[in-house]
Amino acid sequence: MIDFQKSTEFKGLDFSKLVGACESCARCDLSKTRTNVVVGSGPVPCNLMIIGEAPGEKEDLEGRPFVGKSGQLLTQILGSAGIDREKGVYIANTVKCRPPKNRDPQASEIESCTPFLIRQVELIQPKVLILLGNPSLKTILGSAFTITKSRGKWFKAPVSYMADPLYIMPMFHPAYLLRNQSQKKGRPKWLTLADAKEIKAALDYYQMSV
Ligand code: URA
Repeated sequence: MIDFQKSTEFKGLDFSKLVGACESCARCDLSKTRTNVVVGSGPVPCNLMIIGEAPGEKEDLEGRPFVGKSGQLLTQILGSAGIDREKGVYIANTVKCRPPKNRDPQASEIESCTPFLIRQVELIQPKVLILLGNPSLKTILGSAFTITKSRGKWFKAPVSYMADPLYIMPMFHPAYLLRNQSQKKGRPKWLTLADAKEIKAALDYYQMSV
C-alpha cells in the first residue's frame, strides 16, 4: 500500500504551487508528448476523491480529467447514485500526462508521478477515495490486488490530515464498462452502480456532503 503519510519533496507546497510544479514537470518522457498536464478537477478540500488511470486524448487537449466517453459514463454513474460530479468530487489520475496512444502508464512513470499524488491527497483531504480500475488500484493498494476481486470492498489507509483512516473503495473503470454494456443484475455495470450507491450511503451516514 502507498504510504500517504510519506513526506515528499512537495510537502511545503500549497495547492496552487503544487499545480505549478505539476505543470512544469519533466520527470518522465510523458512530458515530451503531452499537450497539457491534467492535474485534476474539483473542490479543494473535498470529502470524496476519485483516482483514475491516465488522461486520454480529449483530456490531454482540454487539460481536464474524464471529459471523454469514459468521463460521461462516470458522471452518469455518480449522478445515478446521487453524487454531483461538479460540486462534490475531486477527480485526479494515477499519472497526470497522457501516455502515447493511450498505452498503460509504465511503472517508472507512475513512480515519478506518485509524490505529486501523495501531496494532492494531503491537500484535498478526502474522507473517501474511489480507485478506478487496475492501475490506480495497484498503485495505491499494491500489485497483488486485482480489480475483479477488490471492487466493492472497503480498505483503509492511515493519513496525516485526520485521525480517522481514509476509506478506499476500488471500482471498475468506466472504459471497461463501455466495453461491457449489459445492465443485468450481477454484471459489471450493475455492480458499479451498487458500489457508487454504497459509497453515497456511507458518505450520508457520516454526514459528509458531496
Ligand atoms: N480515463 C482515465 O483514467 N482518466 C481520464 O482522465 C480519462 C480517461
